Amino acid sequence: MDASWWDDAVVYQVYLRSFFDANGDGIGDLAGLRNQLPYLSALGVDAVWLNPCYTSPQRDHGYDIADYLTVDPSYGTMDDFRALVADAHESGIRVLMDMVANHCSDQHAWFVEALASAPGSPSRERFLFRDGRGAGGELPPNNWQSVFGGPAWSRVTEADGSAGQWYFHAFDPGQPDFNWRNPDVADYFDEVLRFWYSLGVDGFRIDVAHGHFKQVELNDWPGAEDDSGGHNYDMWDQPEVHEIYRRWRALGAEGPGEEKYLVGEIWVPSLERLAAYLAPDELHAAFSFELLVQPWDAARMARAVRLSLDQAKRTGTRQAWTLANHDVHRPATRYGQQQLLEDALPTDMIAAARRTGEADLDLGVRRATAAAMLQLALPGSVYLYQGEELGLPEVLDLPDDARQDPIWLRSAGAELGRDGCRVPMPWEADAQSFGFSPAGAAAPWLPQPPVFSELAVDQQDGVAGSTLSRFREAIRTRRDHFDPDAELAWLDSGHAELLAFTRGASACVVNFGDTDLALPTSWSAELVLASAPISVGGDVLAIPANSAAWLRIDRVAAASAGPVQADGVHQDSPFPLLESTAP
Ligand code: GLC
Ligand code: CA
Repeated sequence: MDASWWDDAVVYQVYLRSFFDANGDGIGDLAGLRNQLPYLSALGVDAVWLNPCYTSPQRDHGYDIADYLTVDPSYGTMDDFRALVADAHESGIRVLMDMVANHCSDQHAWFVEALASAPGSPSRERFLFRDGRGAGGELPPNNWQSVFGGPAWSRVTEADGSAGQWYFHAFDPGQPDFNWRNPDVADYFDEVLRFWYSLGVDGFRIDVAHGHFKQVELNDWPGAEDDSGGHNYDMWDQPEVHEIYRRWRALGAEGPGEEKYLVGEIWVPSLERLAAYLAPDELHAAFSFELLVQPWDAARMARAVRLSLDQAKRTGTRQAWTLANHDVHRPATRYGQQQLLEDALPTDMIAAARRTGEADLDLGVRRATAAAMLQLALPGSVYLYQGEELGLPEVLDLPDDARQDPIWLRSAGAELGRDGCRVPMPWEADAQSFGFSPAGAAAPWLPQPPVFSELAVDQQDGVAGSTLSRFREAIRTRRDHFDPDAELAWLDSGHAELLAFTRGASACVVNFGDTDLALPTSWSAELVLASAPISVGGDVLAIPANSAAWLRIDRVAAASAGPVQADGVHQDSPFPLLESTAP
């Protein structure tokens, strides 16, 4: 298989609303991102993934799309979009968009038309309309729950004013699900993809890529009554979904220009199910959420890496690693909280990465930087979420009236939701809204906490040892240090808390413990880069507590550490090879 740009890319996720506000309305925009492209070039990223910036009433901040062929006016114009793509390409940065095709917005022209049309009409066939149960149709058509809480059905008022049919929404009522068994829908999305490709977009991140089709009869879910929509597998992962990706893969290869890239957000109960999406004629990659949901623990992280790499080997694809995104709590906070080590693999991945509780932020940032160096050392691509490179914490104490996430609203405040990882970026410590907006601008759409001041870009830029500097150095060094094609082999460091592996003559070691740990002298290791201050000198190299280091290791010494199995796993690895259990 030929090498492709995405095989080992570093992709930077831009939550546009919170990145940089050029026009001063308190909302990030396309022109703001364009202004800050030099920042992304200096960081060394290969591509950006833009969260949805299409026209949207913003009930779920762009994951509710009213018009797939325009950008939202609050983010700018189509000319701003064209200029952004042109400048990004000029800087060698590719542009990925977010394709939300499971559902649209209730303001989408098709849905508005469906509401105005009679039950059973072709317009309604593009969505999942059903009659209610009960004598007067007053009960939802089945017992399915929405991912955001509450029933997955909402009742409409018919054109004549009577209480009418119900429509299905896996998420918010403002996000009606398409009926992908209706051919209009598939044809429409072909057109949408072609439109953005014609503007130079290099590919798509596919939102809830395991969605789109629902069990055809829409029977009651026999599982537990309190199962949220995320656990009801009649709502997800239906066999027909693969037809979409075969179609999109072929469309992206049509040209002109290079093949377009497709990476899926997929939550399915086993790696086997995940593998089906990565067939050679479907998606190029799927996010590996394995690392993201682990506590700070050597054995758990090693197992996650191993399971993920096993799966990649089976499908012949590369991993797309990630520790953070706009849906989970930020790593600096997660790793600074008490770690839950006793749990088995979490059954609800999102919940595992959205815990509340006190956090030691110095410790959290230190570990998060080490974790970033771990993922940047692994074979495959890496997705960073904006602000991760600054060590931004999750903002857990946003005022109630500032919160906007439908999860917060639909759970009546029982769940904080995701606003805390979406707080606007701090660029300048001493400027209004920390430089997110120009002087004299409206307040940012979510309030920033005081701690953002010391974490602002201008406080870290060019400062040796800052989180930003460490991320830049790691991204810059990564390709020279680790041969993209070198496979991973575990090394036995002699310490249970010191995860270690080589890729060729290069190694990565991560100390998950709270004390410094010395490397075996037989390794003749030479330090290349570290995530925390480290003293070199003398015969023994000690890896500081809660930190990572990249090393060059003498080949002979490394090989003498013991035989390596055919699957690249060290036989006497301290991390036992586990069965590929369902996550
Ligand atoms: C995905 C997105 C999330 C969004 C949901 C509905 O999980 O990452 O932000 O709310 O899909 O589109
Ligand atoms: Ca703006």
